[in-house]
Amino acid sequence: MPRPEILSRDLLRWFQSDARDLPWRKTTDPYKIWLSEIILQQTRVAQGLPYYERYVAAFPTVQALAAASEDEVLKLWEGLGYYSRARNLHKAAQRVVEEYDGEMPKTAQWLQLLPGVGRYTACAIASIAFGEHVPVVDGNVKRVLSRLFNLDACIDTTEMEQELWNIAASLVPEEAPGDFNQAMMELGARICTPKKPNCESCPVLSQCNARKWGVENLRPVRKPKKKVPHKELVAAIIQKDDTYLILKRPTQGMLGGLWEFPTDEIQSGETHQEALCRGMKETLGISVHPGGLVTTVKHAYTHFKITLNVYRCTREKGRLKAKKHDELRWVSAADFDHYTFPKANHKFLNLLREEPLELF
Ligand code: ADE
Repeated sequence: MPRPEILSRDLLRWFQSDARDLPWRKTTDPYKIWLSEIILQQTRVAQGLPYYERYVAAFPTVQALAAASEDEVLKLWEGLGYYSRARNLHKAAQRVVEEYDGEMPKTAQWLQLLPGVGRYTACAIASIAFGEHVPVVDGNVKRVLSRLFNLDACIDTTEMEQELWNIAASLVPEEAPGDFNQAMMELGARICTPKKPNCESCPVLSQCNARKWGVENLRPVRKPKKKVPHKELVAAIIQKDDTYLILKRPTQGMLGGLWEFPTDEIQSGETHQEALCRGMKETLGISVHPGGLVTTVKHAYTHFKITLNVYRCTREKGRLKAKKHDELRWVSAADFDHYTFPKANHKFLNLLREEPLELF
């Protein structure tokens, strides 16, 4: 079995010489470390980096973030997905300012009371920013541990989740727990990768039991992935002079607080036109006349895929009302930049910006 003192010694040595030069590793400011950890949840470093830079520039302190509007916070998050991360970050910043006098809580236990801060994030901030002796377990660490210890049980169970936290806790050194935790994550991201791990470059190869038995490609054991469902949607482009009708999604729930073109799911047996007529009646309280197909957009979320069929529609009768949304606005293409839209909408916004007249 891996020897904790050798593992941490070799891993820390490697981290000191080989760690990527990332901006949140050059700061001890717990606010910035928190920000980086929220951004890096579900996001790769290369994708998250520009968002981190933008956030730090726009909101250099927790007070600045707390004072911003939710719309500003969401706009800067545009394109990164999982928008509840941004909404929770904003709420948590307000709580830190109001309840903790602007000072971040210093232990994982207290950090976990903030919105959007679960066990992983709390332990990451506490160990990296405050040197607390706590482990972290994310997807990368799970893979690294299941290889080091050659775990043959499926890791997608509550029991194994707990077991992985216990194993991780048994490895964290007294000295530099934050660096050790980051080194484990870094090893998983760069060397101990899901496919074709680069064992030849691994600083802790001598401690790896999966490699010893030649089963590194069989670890971790995961439960088979469910096939992701596919939803067919229709979206309506409704124009008035040179403006378009957009709606703000309710704050709670998926893509909460973002703006979108009126959209609905096509129900079984419906044509696109029927879905538009029914959907717009239910969403906007009006009858519409569906026009031509503008484009078809495909987008993949984590738990489902969508095909968005985008149609030009004209208004017929009825009083316009946002029946399922928080707000409704008529906006010109030149003003789209002031609103935060889901990625699937971005794929056709450019068409409206570029050729508003020739399009139809
Ligand atoms: N993933 C999330 N946080 C990280 C960190 N601080 N270092 C490396 N990978 C990470």
